[in-house]
Amino acid sequence: MKVTPASRHEIRIGLLGCGFMGKCHSNAYKKIPYIYSPANLLPRLMVLCDQKANIVEREAACYGYEEFCTDWKELAADPRIDLFDNCGPDPVHPEPCIAALAHGKHVISEKPMAITVADARRMRDAAAAATGKAMCTFNYRFAPAVQFAKNLIAEGKIGAIYQVRVQYLQMAGHDPSLPPDKPWYSAWPHSGGLQGIGSHAIDQCRFLVGEIASVSALVRTFNKDRAITSAGCPAEVTADEGTAAVLEFANGAIGVLESSVVATGRKNYLAWEINGSRGSLRWDVEHPNSLFACLSGGSDDLLLGFTEISVTESCHPYVGAWWPQGHNLGWEHLQIIEKYHFLKAIADGGPLHPSQATFEDGYRVAVIIDAMRRSSLKGTRVAVTF
Ligand SMILES: NC(=O)c1ccc[n+]([C@@H]2O[C@H](COP(=O)([O-])OP(=O)(O)OC[C@H]3O[C@@H](n4cnc5c(N)ncnc54)[C@H](O)[C@@H]3O)[C@@H](O)[C@H]2O)c1
Repeated sequence: MKVTPASRHEIRIGLLGCGFMGKCHSNAYKKIPYIYSPANLLPRLMVLCDQKANIVEREAACYGYEEFCTDWKELAADPRIDLFDNCGPDPVHPEPCIAALAHGKHVISEKPMAITVADARRMRDAAAAATGKAMCTFNYRFAPAVQFAKNLIAEGKIGAIYQVRVQYLQMAGHDPSLPPDKPWYSAWPHSGGLQGIGSHAIDQCRFLVGEIASVSALVRTFNKDRAITSAGCPAEVTADEGTAAVLEFANGAIGVLESSVVATGRKNYLAWEINGSRGSLRWDVEHPNSLFACLSGGSDDLLLGFTEISVTESCHPYVGAWWPQGHNLGWEHLQIIEKYHFLKAIADGGPLHPSQATFEDGYRVAVIIDAMRRSSLKGTRVAVTF
């Protein structure tokens, strides 16, 4: 018997940037219709845009886009597009996102939403005034173990939070002989490790612990003498490589945050530990399915210690649509889970999923990064005001 195609809610995608994240987001859109089949969503890959004219047509064909272009202005104004997904480099987030919002599109901006607070504020304000929905991709919020931890905290399972320590460590820049454009400075020379990966660590703190009230930070560039680019051009290195910060939260908790793109041996280590009056939680993205929890159900301290919980039961957050218990999920999956919830909100016409990062979140992270930089320059603690 022939299959009758289901009637589906079509969302026409225009995606900017066919690099790492363009591939990752496109992959998510392709999988959503069958992983989340009851939702009857149909993300239609309509136009792929990239300035690399020699590559974009080939990539569009591989992913299954119907068309390609090289000018984001054309894409942002295209009346056929419902969702404008910005996977361009950091400096290419503000203008295309603001233009697409003005054209009535729903918009996704990769993180960091903007390099300057002024640009992030313009994006936040544009989203507030727009008819379309807007999301900033702090995707680690959608790891099942992270959402499970958030639920445990909200239920009071670890009591009042005292302290948090969070790290986002990578090693791409650890070799000082590399030219400055080779290490991953997210969008060298415009932004560095604090914006590239520190932004995720800040977002995890805000998501799990609460708003940050003040910071005291050291932001450092260790290899300022990477003076010649791989193309042989002279360069001045200003992008930061490492940050160490002390955080004060509005709820009284305190924290320590580190980001590094020169952490020799660390591939993609986002990790946190949160200590509360009744328990503690620990997680890292290199072991994404495991939440380590110390929960003091009784009064016997002799039994207290961390237990590894495999967050793979169908009743754990987000797991139900995927595989049976113990059949683990990875980084790819949290990207798909995040995009699914955004598309679902578009299709339903309702509010964003409560865990979705908004342009307000993107703006606040930019403000906190700016406060860390000012603290480092001045050598003093800086209050965070939004
Ligand atoms: N959420 C995450 O976990 C995560 C992970 C990695 C990167 N990122 C972010 O995603 C964004 C993209 O990173 P990436 O690693 O995919 O970069 P990339 O360099 O691999 O891809 C960027 C693409 O954008 C294209 N481009 C640049 N300027 C353009 C313009 N003006 N018009 C059209 N195309 C243009 C480039 O040609 C390139 O193909 C960055 O903001 C980065 O910080 C997020």
